[in-house]
Amino acid sequence: MENIQQFFAPCPRGLETVLAAELKVLGASDIRPTDGGVGFAGDMALCYRANLGSRIASRILWKLTERPYRSEEDIYRTACALPWPDYFDVGQTFRVKVSAIRCPLRSLDFVTLKIKDAVCDSFRAACNDRPSIDTAAPDMRVYAFLTADRLMLYLDTSGEALFKRGYRKEQGEAPLRENLAAGILKLAGWEPGMPLLDPMCGSGTFLIEAALMALNIAPGAERWFAFEKLKNFDAAAWDRIYRESVAAERPKEPLPIYGSDVSSTALAAARTNLEAAGLEGLVSLKQINMLDIAPPAPAGIIVTNPPYAVRIGEQEALAQLYPRLGDLLKQKFGGWRACFFSADMRLAKLIRLSVSRRTPLYNGALECRLFAYEMVAGSNRKPKSTPGPDGAAGQSVPQ
Ligand SMILES: C[S@@+](CC[C@H](N)C(=O)[O-])C[C@H]1O[C@@H](n2cnc3c(N)ncnc32)[C@H](O)[C@@H]1O
Repeated sequence: MENIQQFFAPCPRGLETVLAAELKVLGASDIRPTDGGVGFAGDMALCYRANLGSRIASRILWKLTERPYRSEEDIYRTACALPWPDYFDVGQTFRVKVSAIRCPLRSLDFVTLKIKDAVCDSFRAACNDRPSIDTAAPDMRVYAFLTADRLMLYLDTSGEALFKRGYRKEQGEAPLRENLAAGILKLAGWEPGMPLLDPMCGSGTFLIEAALMALNIAPGAERWFAFEKLKNFDAAAWDRIYRESVAAERPKEPLPIYGSDVSSTALAAARTNLEAAGLEGLVSLKQINMLDIAPPAPAGIIVTNPPYAVRIGEQEALAQLYPRLGDLLKQKFGGWRACFFSADMRLAKLIRLSVSRRTPLYNGALECRLFAYEMVAGSNRKPKSTPGPDGAAGQSVPQ
């Protein structure tokens, strides 16, 4: 287990720094954040801990090799030279996925085919047989990443993406991915113990991720991982890591985490998902319009993801909601920090409060912002005459 390996953890863009911090706590070394993920080093035990414990990574990819290339033939040769039958069994299925930035080759589909051929030829040479392809639910996923002149080959140690924790039974309206929600909570500065309010909680993703963090329950506690199917799988080490993680869970008790939504369907979804995560009764839920809400504690953090407006009518309704949200926060939420995650860039201007931080983030391909507001009673009204760059408030004037 002490053999040091290289890994790469992809994550939603914008969360690289919080993922790097999380991987450090998990024991990773040589941590290198890049666009869309974090490279790191450690032994296979670290790989198990990262799969089980990372709330922000989408997967943990085990780097098998990195080589220069100029042609499809170079890629075939590099892939063929790897000892594939040492990694997994010929009876297991696999698939190959290729992504690239500035790759000069004509077809990534052809590259995919060459890597698949290389894996099969490597098996044939060793055992006169080849593994089957399964693109839907393979045992093993091989990832290739190409830059202009370098090829990196990885084996996915996660299997299903890590944001699939297993608790999501109901979708609600446009639910956030679990790892994006966990990363946003970190970026918002929320820590276990602080009161948390999501007044537009939908299916409850922020509430559940926060409750899991507060109780120190590993996000991967209820699922399996692809590393369990690798030939080098160390069942005793995994058993030890899993038991340690369960032993570190905090006793279940009601938490200062509050969710509400105007929609009864959304609340029913949140309730179902909380139950599926084993968190029933620990988080407060209420059906109420955000505009009628009262703070559940003297100070705390609001983290929420307002509705996404697609149609013109919805956009107009939202444009009218934002200034009322601003008024509500100013009047009732002095002492709170409010963080809104949205793709709607009008929010910053229309809410008419001094934004303290705006963090660019991506929800899939959709460019979003996390807008943060520090609510000091009476001092957060954005002055109408002195707007800052791109609609940000200038110096705020107490009213
Ligand atoms: C984008 S969804 C939130 C999704 C949630 N983050 C999740 O992961 O499931 C927005 C939610 O805001 C709710 N909503 C819209 N207007 C509201 C209002 N005025 N007060 C409270 N909730 C509202 C909708 O019912 C919807 O559930």
